[in-house]
Amino acid sequence: MRKLLAVIFILIMIVPAAIAEETVSEPRILVAYLSRAGENYNVGTVKEGSASAAYAGYIEKGNTAILAETIAEATGGDLFAITTVIPYPDDYATMLQAAQDEIDTDARPELAGTVENMDDYGVIFIGYPIWHGRMPQAIYTFLESYDLSGKTVIPFNTHEGSGQSGTQQVIANALPGSTVLQGLAVRGKTAQEDPDQTQALVNEWLEGLGMKRANTEEAQVLAAYEAIQQAMIDKDIETLDRLYLDGTTFTHMSGKIQTKKEFFGEIADGTLNYFRYVIHDPQITVEGNEATLSASVALTAKVYGASGTWTLPVNTHFTKIDGQWYAHN
Ligand SMILES: Cc1cc2nc3c(=O)[nH]c(=O)nc-3n(C[C@H](O)[C@H](O)[C@H](O)COP(=O)(O)O)c2cc1C
Repeated sequence: MRKLLAVIFILIMIVPAAIAEETVSEPRILVAYLSRAGENYNVGTVKEGSASAAYAGYIEKGNTAILAETIAEATGGDLFAITTVIPYPDDYATMLQAAQDEIDTDARPELAGTVENMDDYGVIFIGYPIWHGRMPQAIYTFLESYDLSGKTVIPFNTHEGSGQSGTQQVIANALPGSTVLQGLAVRGKTAQEDPDQTQALVNEWLEGLGMKRANTEEAQVLAAYEAIQQAMIDKDIETLDRLYLDGTTFTHMSGKIQTKKEFFGEIADGTLNYFRYVIHDPQITVEGNEATLSASVALTAKVYGASGTWTLPVNTHFTKIDGQWYAHN
């Protein structure tokens, strides 16, 4: 039985504030996408009584959303759904008109959410469906909402015959300060109905761009650690509980030791709030099913009433069980 000595630090206010200056070894990846569930062309199940039933079926999840998930999985990127304050109509015929109206007025539909930590991302994948030969106007709103200069931007889209329809150039023109790389266009029907083919297309494209995360054990350990950090931010206790082995303890720098239940309880009840993390210089060693991740992690948080960004040394152990890496002391 491993000695369950606490090695994971939780922020408390006596930790001196310091922001590390080293560069992150791998740029963080964002996969932002706009996609619409509901009635669409050439996919889904026809709904009885629908005015558009002659040519459109109903889908639970949009085609571009499925493509975005495949890309996020392959790159280790974070997903962000671009949504509008006024939701798009479910009905296909109404949607066709709504999209046309947006084009006619060169609209900038107001977006319902923001990427709070855009500065953290070096690579932004931007996904959308083709509507009337163009990208949705809400993609312009998205591009105009952030300073993406200096970042790498990679478009991807779904369509039913139009391909990219010139949208990559439109994005490159809109972002003169960004590096816009070769995008990927996939048929909506393929994304919706053929996951193997979708994955193959995505992998081939990413390999060409040199963007596919190598599926090494080290990369998987880093992905598990990133998933933990994201779950802390999201207050996703279920994921935290799953990724930390039972018996793991957490030590405050004051020396106070907490069980999983106590630590997660304070995340859930708002005592501990994490907003952002940057992993600097991760060093990962793997021996069989055991691994260690050492890094310095800059965490922006509000803990026990104190807000700030603290850089902490991290030394976390992982064990691989049934193909998944789990963290523990
Ligand atoms: C309003 C509207 C306009 C569309 N216009 C085109 C088009 O011009 N060319 C094309 O190939 N597909 C067109 N499509 C099909 C969509 O691009 C395709 O179904 C896409 O996969 C939808 O993605 P989503 O499910 O993520 O919204 C259109 C679909 C809608 C709803």
